[in-house]
Amino acid sequence: MNFNVIKKGTVTSTNTLLKQQAKDLPHGTVIVADCQTGGRGRLGRSFYSPDKTGLYMSILLKEGFGSDPTLVTTLTAVAVMKAVETVTGKEARVKWVNDVLLEGKKVCGILTEGAFVGGELEYMIVGIGINTATLDFPDEIKEIAGSVGCDKSELLDAVLDCFFDEFDNLQSKKFLNFYRERCVTLNKNIKIISPGKEPVEAFARGIDDNAALIVKYTDGKNGLVSSGEVSIR
Ligand code: BTN
Repeated sequence: MNFNVIKKGTVTSTNTLLKQQAKDLPHGTVIVADCQTGGRGRLGRSFYSPDKTGLYMSILLKEGFGSDPTLVTTLTAVAVMKAVETVTGKEARVKWVNDVLLEGKKVCGILTEGAFVGGELEYMIVGIGINTATLDFPDEIKEIAGSVGCDKSELLDAVLDCFFDEFDNLQSKKFLNFYRERCVTLNKNIKIISPGKEPVEAFARGIDDNAALIVKYTDGKNGLVSSGEVSIR
């Protein structure tokens, strides 16, 4: 398949750049950069994006994304797992909601952002950062981060093929079964971490059809978690 891919050298953030140009670009446009000086992660964090050792990319979606950005993030995690497997032959896994793991280390993060106009979701930007050959990570992530160890352009092709294959079937929600099978968070004692709140302990029981985590709290009550993040206890 042919994709509209714009290749860049050093940028602040492919998500930011694509957002600045989104109005004039068609659905499906992809920006890929060699390096990001201001790579952004979820919950206001930064994403370590050293020169040439990672795949830093953003995909512009102007149609067919439905009304729930969480499902697009989940679908993207499935696409990345399948792409990593195509290229390496190794089984990737996912920690809810969007950290893709290979051999227990986080190799990819996903940041999905929506642009709202008059309360309507006008377009979405799916940012994907995959460590392909990074060996030295900053101290705060060196215990948890890893690299896929693969060719960047081969992985880019595989990610785009897998992403648009899955995206064509977003409404069917079929990708959720693959996600559930590969999710390391399920059936574990977890801590739910929400910005500005104390962590809450719970047990991860399942993933519902909106990709929310179904949990049982320590007082026996059930609940749904659809934002923030979890750590496995
Ligand atoms: C996370 O793990 O918190 C999400 C990280 C998302 C990083 C990607 S790299 C390409 C795109 N541009 C950004 O600034 N962020 C995303």
